[in-house]
Amino acid sequence: MKGLFIVLEGPDGSGKSTMAKKIGEYFKEQGREIEFTREPGGTNISEKIRELILDNNNIEMNYRTEALLYAAARAQLVSQKIIPWLEAGKIVISERYVYSSLVYQGLGRGLGIDEINKINNFGTTGLKPDLVLLFDINPERALKRKLSIDGGDRMEKENISFHKEVYAGYKTLTKSYPEIKTINAERTIDEIFNDIKKIINLKKEETI
Ligand code: TYD
Repeated sequence: MKGLFIVLEGPDGSGKSTMAKKIGEYFKEQGREIEFTREPGGTNISEKIRELILDNNNIEMNYRTEALLYAAARAQLVSQKIIPWLEAGKIVISERYVYSSLVYQGLGRGLGIDEINKINNFGTTGLKPDLVLLFDINPERALKRKLSIDGGDRMEKENISFHKEVYAGYKTLTKSYPEIKTINAERTIDEIFNDIKKIINLKKEETI
């Protein structure tokens, strides 16, 4: 059986974690083996890099350092976990992947999509997901929700114009990355999940 690599993308607080769980349950009911992961993180090394990146004390971090650290955390996750899981025929559900770096570092930080693609192609050895679900939600509302829950990390504390740029960036990406499917995430959990099921089932038919 072939593995399937599904990525969830979207602004902070857009509901990715809730849907990741539901997608996992859906595949489990069909007898598939599931692995979840989140970025940055997912391995011991990548979790240490995550702490460095998101630490509210690291205000002096250069944007290029930041971009390289995200790519480094991802390189470790891909080689140590994601590729072996896919080779074992598992369904891999990841909250965030290269697309986050393209919009947060490439556009939000202004480093450029091409530069970010280069370091990430090197880091991931070019591994592409089968499907990317983009959770489309007003960034201001999403962020307010997130900040009210946990106060926010170094990225979430960026000003709202940064988050708006990230949101616009995601919309731009959909034009050149056909694997990205946009989901209206400002609806009930059931409505959102029904849409996701339809997209997943189409994808399964294509890949089987
Ligand atoms: P996030 O998934 O939001 O973690 P949490 O749910 O614990 O807040 O990711 C952490 C932050 O890192 C988030 O603000 C998005 C940002 N980020 C990037 O800027 N570039 C990247 O490549 C990734 C993966 C995340």
